[in-house]
Amino acid sequence: EIWANCKLKIFGEKIFYKPTTESTNENAKQLAWEGAPFGTIVIAERQQKGKGRMGRTWVSPYGGIWFSLILRPHLVPMEAPKLTIMAAVAVAEAINEATGICANVKWPNDILVDGKKVCGILTEMSAEMDLINYVVIGIGINANNVDFPGILKNSSTSLKRIKGKKISRIKVLSNLLRKLEYYYVRAEVEGFCEIFKKWRALCIHLGKKVMITEKHKIVEGMAIDIHESGALLVKTKSGKVIRVLSGDVSLRLG
Ligand code: BTN
Repeated sequence: EIWANCKLKIFGEKIFYKPTTESTNENAKQLAWEGAPFGTIVIAERQQKGKGRMGRTWVSPYGGIWFSLILRPHLVPMEAPKLTIMAAVAVAEAINEATGICANVKWPNDILVDGKKVCGILTEMSAEMDLINYVVIGIGINANNVDFPGILKNSSTSLKRIKGKKISRIKVLSNLLRKLEYYYVRAEVEGFCEIFKKWRALCIHLGKKVMITEKHKIVEGMAIDIHESGALLVKTKSGKVIRVLSGDVSLRLG
């Protein structure tokens, strides 16, 4: 179905389809380690141990779009976050084109609709100091799944919930894979400038007061831009501009 619909040029030479798996990112990392070519895709109907960022679990029942893509980019490890930015732009645009839903991005990896999360991206890599062996981009889209347990009830939603009817997963997926392929090839030749421009236009918190919860500290200030490395630039109360490399952004009122 993916081959027939996506008409991919360089990605998807190998596609691994799994009715059930623990985590497509774990599958993809194993395959990459065994030498799978770039563009290999692992996709599952459901994940039993879906992984989110920062050691969280990612609830992945039937109905969602859960997949991972293996890349072997010519970037240094420090630049890998750019690929997450690229994926976020591709997801927001694909959702918009395939369903008519207006989606936005929140640094570093969330796709939101009306402030609720519809998609998360988990980028993992294997690298040496100055060389990336492989990158796995894991994308989870709440498509036709509608139940969100516990704390996710208020913070997450799905495309089906928003539309009030089932959406075509293959339409979203084929649009997304084509975009990922297009942006990836383009970035390898021209760099990420254009992608960053699009990300800025899609971002919900640039120019707004934010609080970023990092593992061991909290940063507050104005989110002013995204740095070319993929870091978020935040202007603190003292006027100092700092680069935030990881964490969760929440909007501050007032
Ligand atoms: C996050 O927002 O915390 C990132 C969530 C990423 C979930 C996707 S689903 C497909 C891939 N396989 C995983 O185990 N995780 C990613």
